[in-house]
Amino acid sequence: MYELLSRTLLKINPQYARAMACHATHLASKFVHNRPPESLRRKVMGLEFPGPIGMAAGFDKHGELYPALSEIGFGFVEIGSVVPQPEHQRSRGLEVVAANLMRYSHPHPIPLGVSLSMNRKTPFAQMFQDYLIGMRGLWKYADYFVINLGVRAGPDLHLQENRAALYKVLTNVKDEQRRLNSEHGAYRPLVVKIDQHRGDTNALLCCVRDYCFDGLILGGDKHQGGNQGESNRTLTGLANAVRILSADTAVISVGGICTPQDVANHLSAGAALIQIYSGLVASGPMLPRRINMHLSNTSID
Ligand SMILES: Cc1cc2nc3c(=O)[nH]c(=O)nc-3n(C[C@H](O)[C@H](O)[C@H](O)COP(=O)(O)O)c2cc1C
Repeated sequence: MYELLSRTLLKINPQYARAMACHATHLASKFVHNRPPESLRRKVMGLEFPGPIGMAAGFDKHGELYPALSEIGFGFVEIGSVVPQPEHQRSRGLEVVAANLMRYSHPHPIPLGVSLSMNRKTPFAQMFQDYLIGMRGLWKYADYFVINLGVRAGPDLHLQENRAALYKVLTNVKDEQRRLNSEHGAYRPLVVKIDQHRGDTNALLCCVRDYCFDGLILGGDKHQGGNQGESNRTLTGLANAVRILSADTAVISVGGICTPQDVANHLSAGAALIQIYSGLVASGPMLPRRINMHLSNTSID
């Protein structure tokens, strides 16, 4: 029933389908407490994840749905992307997010990641500052941060011609991580999110490795139920990333992962964690539970 309605809404306007998924998640969380089975627990980037399936950024932009998402079987949730200042039809800004997150008790039931981005009006030369503002403002409330390079508001940091701007962002966020770690006495892993179909992925992977980031989110196929060729390419790209990065850098896979078997395939290819977005919108709030059940009955090699 949910899937039929969602398919119809996706054809009319994807925003309606997302709104229905939000309501359904909220409602489901009142009746079900689908914590992942104990066998799926894992330690990644120094954090305890009750399960490997996470909610991808963009669904819970301001951290309002985090408590509901943590009840329906997710092992972690990434909120945002957060930008410093409110921006029409994009974000209500960092202060609203901070006000939401400060209500949640610590330690969080499941890791809460915060994806960071930049405001459209920020001059390109200053874009690194927006990531630093996000880290400073939310250090106390996040379990890890994501530097989202897939930003459409600024220069495309995937491209060779913007390599100097990329280095500036990466150097500054790593320095700030060290500074905030010693100021607060609390370490927060830093993860870089890239799209493996934009720019020279191997060069970006080498940057992530050389700058010693804690993790990489590798965005792949965006099409739900994409063809076999596409998903094989994405899995090959994932295995390549795992090979290039050191064992200390966790690889999180996202994009086109919609079924329990997709998740098993990505874990087999070397992903430490998986994120989903469209799959939840299309299949509804019982999907994380279905995936967890499948994984707990499957051996991943
Ligand atoms: C409406 C929408 C908004 C999104 N917003 C963000 C965002 O703010 N930051 C981000 O890093 N990714 C964002 N994403 C990308 C998702 O996190 C994810 O990488 C992408 O949807 C591919 O996963 P999927 O195939 O499971 O949907 C967004 C995706 C959608 C569909």
